[in-house]
Amino acid sequence: MLLSLSLGFLGLITAAKGAAQHRFKTTSSPNVPAIPTVFESYDAGLFTPLEDLDLLSAEVYTTLRHPVFPKHSVRIKKSTEFCDGTVNAYTGYIDILARHIFFYFFESRSNPDKDDVIFWTNGGPGCSSALGLFMELGPCRVQKANATTFNPHAWNENANIFFVDQPIGVGFSYADYGETVGTTEEAAKDLAAFVAIFFEHFTKFKGRSFHMAGESYGGRYIPVFASEVYDQNTYLVEAGMTPINLTSVMIGNGCTDEGTMYRSYYDMQCSPASVQPVNSITSCVLMRQMVPRCEKMFKESCSETMDAINCLNAINFCYDAVFTPFMATGINPYDLGKTCEGEVADNLCYPITKEISAFLDRADIRKTLGVDSSVGNFSSCSDHVSARFSANLDFVFPTQYYIAALLERGVKALIYVGINDWICNWVGNDRMTLALEWAGKEAFNAQHLREWQFNGTSAGLTRKAGPLTFATIYDAGHMAPYDKPEASLELVQRWLAGDEL
Ligand SMILES: *[C@@H]1O[C@H](CO)[C@@H](O)[C@H](O)[C@H]1NC(C)=O
Ligand SMILES: *[C@@H]1O[C@H](CO)[C@@H](O)[C@H](O)[C@H]1NC(C)=O
Ligand SMILES: *[C@@H]1O[C@H](CO)[C@@H](O)[C@H](O)[C@H]1NC(C)=O
Ligand SMILES: *[C@@H]1O[C@H](CO)[C@@H](O)[C@H](O)[C@H]1NC(C)=O
Repeated sequence: MLLSLSLGFLGLITAAKGAAQHRFKTTSSPNVPAIPTVFESYDAGLFTPLEDLDLLSAEVYTTLRHPVFPKHSVRIKKSTEFCDGTVNAYTGYIDILARHIFFYFFESRSNPDKDDVIFWTNGGPGCSSALGLFMELGPCRVQKANATTFNPHAWNENANIFFVDQPIGVGFSYADYGETVGTTEEAAKDLAAFVAIFFEHFTKFKGRSFHMAGESYGGRYIPVFASEVYDQNTYLVEAGMTPINLTSVMIGNGCTDEGTMYRSYYDMQCSPASVQPVNSITSCVLMRQMVPRCEKMFKESCSETMDAINCLNAINFCYDAVFTPFMATGINPYDLGKTCEGEVADNLCYPITKEISAFLDRADIRKTLGVDSSVGNFSSCSDHVSARFSANLDFVFPTQYYIAALLERGVKALIYVGINDWICNWVGNDRMTLALEWAGKEAFNAQHLREWQFNGTSAGLTRKAGPLTFATIYDAGHMAPYDKPEASLELVQRWLAGDEL
């Protein structure tokens, strides 16, 4: 989730603006020793899968290993009664040498033995998936630090679901010796290994339809992670393992293509694209004049040539063109239709985020979850992680290429957007999907946006061709499942079922 001015995506762009002092790098930071995944050939005799999650202990971790991933292991424990109360819940770490990634896993409320599996991550970069879990689409919501309430519109209504704190340094994830991850491509290696190990151990999920979902900066994460999982399948097959049945990516209020976003930031604040224009005519006219130059600079220096110095210059220019005047309005960047409850920098405009942090800092909750004792106080979003991605200009990458590549290989994509969000808005996502270069482009672009219905009323707009669906959700902001839980669940259920919206 792109959340705060100080901590989320805005913070990232702001930090990038001042990043002239950082060395620009398009690849890994030098302090990150790349850990190549070592695929060894599969010897069934070396490996006994745990198979049954019921066998896990609620008191201590069970450690799972796999000979194909000698540098990886998984610590997992059962958390009876946690959060949902009606299904089995599991938490744990995937350990990659000294790097440890925390996850929650909830079984489906309907048929865990048959239902699909969803992977969920929030964005930032640097924000914890605990926000998605306890605020948006998880089995329970944290209303107060001392209590959770059952969420009847959770996405595990008919799917098994993971919430992952990634990369290391986010939420309860940690590293032993201060290792860091600074790019999405690097984070993808750990996640793909995690996915392979999980399915290999829990044979009941093997071959199950798998969907990778995320929000906000997830618009960058998910296409890259899914591509890594897809490519990894080649190695899994060579090693004699079952490939991951990657069926779709689901991106909510994602920022995928910075190049189409700048003009859209203008449209969202100066035209009635969602609510009425929120900025003054004077500001809007100036902005209108600056946007073409911003786009030209971005295209020439960032997306086409990745010229470090000039790209940074372009980002600075674009920031001044469309961000600065918006910030001056004081409007909630995650929902143009709402006022900010509190201070963005303090609680991201949503007081519930403070309750979630307090809940996750409770000693009894940490014990239940099995959070490593080396993890300090919970922070919704890590400034350090965000700053690292920012220094690498990770968000500049034209991530839509990954989506097109997945579509060409039969992996479906659902791009959904709460229509009142400004930061990763629907106009930019609409442009991004229309501009995608893939075999179905002509058919997709020939479709008009039409309304989709839910509960007898119009719930949003949609456009679809083949494996690609674009959809908006009315009356929702950046955290669409928080604002419109029923409509969001309906959207996801139709998607999983393969039904038209
Ligand atoms: C939780 O705390 C609130 C005050 O913050 C209190 O009113 C409520 O009774 C408490 N609930 C429980 C279950 O302890
Ligand atoms: C992948 O999942 C789909 C949808 O559930 C299913 O039809 C298909 O048979 C699965 N593929 C494999 C190889 O298991
Ligand atoms: C962690 O939170 C506790 C309670 O809010 C506070 O007393 C403590 O100073 C915090 N520790 C750090 C390292 O911020
Ligand atoms: C569904 O429609 C009914 C009747 O119009 C309304 O009372 C209810 O709030 C609606 N539910 C949702 C989830 O929109």
